[in-house]
Amino acid sequence: MKAYIQAKREAQRHPHKLLQSKSSAGDILDLALQDAEYGATASTSELLDQLKTFLFAGHDTTAATICWAFYFLSQHSESLSRLRKELDDVFGVNTSPKQVAEMLIAEPKLHSKLEFALAVIKESLRLEPPAAPAREATANYRFTTHSGQTFDPPEGVMMYLSAWMLHRNKDVWGQDAEEFRPQRFMSGNPVPWGYLAFSKRPRDCIGSSLAYLEVYCNRHRANVRRK
Ligand code: HEM
Repeated sequence: MKAYIQAKREAQRHPHKLLQSKSSAGDILDLALQDAEYGATASTSELLDQLKTFLFAGHDTTAATICWAFYFLSQHSESLSRLRKELDDVFGVNTSPKQVAEMLIAEPKLHSKLEFALAVIKESLRLEPPAAPAREATANYRFTTHSGQTFDPPEGVMMYLSAWMLHRNKDVWGQDAEEFRPQRFMSGNPVPWGYLAFSKRPRDCIGSSLAYLEVYCNRHRANVRRK
C-alpha cells in the first residue's frame, strides 16, 4: 500500500508518467494528492491512515447499507413508490442519473429536500445496522443497565453494544419495531434515544454525512426510479 501511494505521488510529480501508469483513475487518493496544500504536505503514513479509514470504516458499512436499502425497497412497494415520487418532484420526471448528478453539483442543497429518501436510509440502518459501538473497560468501571442491574467488567474487557437488538426493542421503538416503516424518521416524529447506527457523541461516526451522500448517489446511479 505504501508503494502504491509513493507511485501515485511520483506520477503526480511527473505527469508524463501518468500515461504509462494506472494512477489517473481519479480515486480518493488522487483527490487527496491533487489538493494543493494537503497533497503536498501529507506524509505517506498520514495518507495511509486516511485510506485505512475510508476502506475499513467507510466502505463495507456503506456498501451493506446500500444493499439493505435496496432489499427493503424491493419488499415494500409503497415506500418505493413514495421514494420515486419524491425523486420526481425534486429532480423532474425521467431525468437520467447523469442529469441528476449535474443538478446536484449545481445546487448541492437539493439533497435537503429528499426527506423520505433520508428516512429510508435511516430506517434501513435501524433494522440492519452494519456497525456498533465497542468500548474497552477501564479500571473500576461499573455500568448499570436500564433495569437496574450493575456490572463490573474487568479492566481491558471489550464491550460490544448490540445496535441490532436495541433497534428492534419494542420498549424503545414501539410494537412495530420489527417493521420497515421509514415514516418514523420523518420530521415531527420523535426519534427514540436508542438509535445507535452512528453511535453517540463524543465518539460517534465522523463519516455519517458522507455515508448518507454515498447511499443517496448510489441510489440515483442504480436508477431506483426505473419502473
Ligand atoms: C453507513 C455507513 C457507516 C456506518 C453505519 C458507520 C458506523 C459507525 C459507528 C457505529 C461508529 C462508532 C464505533 C464505536 O463507537 O466503537 C463509527 C465510527 C467511525 N466511523 Fe463510521 N460508519 C459509516 C461510515 C463511515 C465513513 C464513510 C467513514 C469515513 C470515510 C467513517 C469513519 C469513521 C471513523 C473514523 C470512526 C471513529 C470515530 C472515533 O472514534 O472518534 N464511517 N462509525
